[in-house]
Amino acid sequence: MKASKTVKSSSPIGIFDSGIGGLTVADAIHKLLPSETLIYFGDTAHLPYGDKAPESIRAYSVRIADFLLEHGCKMIVIACNTASSIAYETVKEHVGGRATVIDVINPVVAEVSSMKKITHVGVIGTRATIRSNAYATRIVRQNESLKVSSLATPLLAPMIEEGFFNNKISRTVINSYLSRPKIKKIDALILACTHYPLIKAEINEYYKGNITIVDSAAIVARFVKQSLAASKLLHSGKAGKHRFYISDFTKSFEQSTKIFFKDKLKLEHKNLWK
Ligand code: DGL
Repeated sequence: MKASKTVKSSSPIGIFDSGIGGLTVADAIHKLLPSETLIYFGDTAHLPYGDKAPESIRAYSVRIADFLLEHGCKMIVIACNTASSIAYETVKEHVGGRATVIDVINPVVAEVSSMKKITHVGVIGTRATIRSNAYATRIVRQNESLKVSSLATPLLAPMIEEGFFNNKISRTVINSYLSRPKIKKIDALILACTHYPLIKAEINEYYKGNITIVDSAAIVARFVKQSLAASKLLHSGKAGKHRFYISDFTKSFEQSTKIFFKDKLKLEHKNLWK
């Protein structure tokens, strides 16, 4: 892999996820930093990552990072909790000094660990994210008075990807997961999967607004801004053309992307594994 050209403030921000989930992060970055150009990659050919072996998740992530570097990205945001928990160190090492690599877990851990009036935090995510124990270990390391209870909710990401949210089916699945004894009596819940902001309202409804729902998109967007500012790479002026790539074209992906970027978004099909 040849080194990318030297990055400039006008260079794009690369964002990737296994599917549409990372669009929640892309949307938050776009709203906070409208001058930045975004290049998004949704690895729909390999979705869901949550049930894949760690070696596969690392291999997919490194290949996508290369693709984003080929596009001259100044920053790579791993907008997927599963890839963040399994592949962050590998991607960071692979990318080296060519771009800044940001994951979605560390910024959220920092925020939650310093939240006031919270004693028991719940975490829901894919099997791989929960198995990695990344949130619980890091939160307790930063604030040992917090209790963390984690629950794998593997059906939620494919359900959302198939367009099932804000309906009877999604409410039934959500209620069945959230009523598990494991995450009873929590006062905050981390949505540890970038797909879940799409069902945030339904989750909030389940708790009747009584607990804090932590959704990483806005937290990560703020972290991206700080990090670009610190390395003097924040762009001002007009953004370039945003590009959205997927490794396998699916109709439901196309429909779901419109939730975030309306009809302005044009999907490009790119199979990196041919
Ligand atoms: N959006 C991804 C995450 O944040 C997971 C969905 C999947 O299993 O691919 O973990």
